[in-house]
Amino acid sequence: MAASAEMPYFIKPSRLLNAAEKRRAYQQATSAIFAVLGDEPSEQVKMVTVNCLLKTYLPYFYWVGFYLVRNTNQLVIGPYQGTLGCLYIDFGRGVCGKAAATGEIQLVADTHALDQGSEHIACDPNSASEIVLPVYGKNGELLGVFDVDATEKNAFDEIDAEELDKLLKRLFA
Ligand code: SME
Repeated sequence: MAASAEMPYFIKPSRLLNAAEKRRAYQQATSAIFAVLGDEPSEQVKMVTVNCLLKTYLPYFYWVGFYLVRNTNQLVIGPYQGTLGCLYIDFGRGVCGKAAATGEIQLVADTHALDQGSEHIACDPNSASEIVLPVYGKNGELLGVFDVDATEKNAFDEIDAEELDKLLKRLFA
C-alpha cells in the first residue's frame, strides 16, 4: 500500500512550539510518563506509554515510534503512533538506519532535501522534518532507535535532542 498524503481522521498536522513552550511540554510529558510507569520493567509497556504521552503533550509530533534491532544489522518496526510505518530498515539506510549505524542523534530540518530511498525513507509524504535517537539498554547494547516526524520543516532542534536523549536514557539505559 503506497504512502498517502491524506491524513486519517485520527491524525493532525504538526503545530510548532517555541523554546519555552517546548521546555514546558517536555516537563509535563516527562512527569506524566513517570507517573504512569513508576518502576515498570517492561520495555514494550514503556515504549507504548512514551509514544502516547509525548504525542499528547508535543503537538508537532506527527509520527512517533520505535524501530528495534533485529539480526544485528536491521531494524524492525516497534511500537508507534501514526500512519503506516515501513516494516524493516537496514542499518545505514534512511535516517533511522544512519542513527542505528552511527549511534548518533540525527536531526533533519528538511527530509525532502535528502536523497529519497537512501538518506531518507518516506513512510509518509507529509513528513517534513525528523529527529531520530539511538536507544541503548542497561548493558549498553543498542535496543533500536526512537523516530519522530513532523509535518513542518525545522520542527526539531537541540532542545528536542537533549530532552529526548535524557528521557530515553532514564527509561531504558
Ligand atoms: N523516515 C525514516 C523511516 C521511518 S518512517 O518515517 C516512520 C527514515 O528515513 O529512516
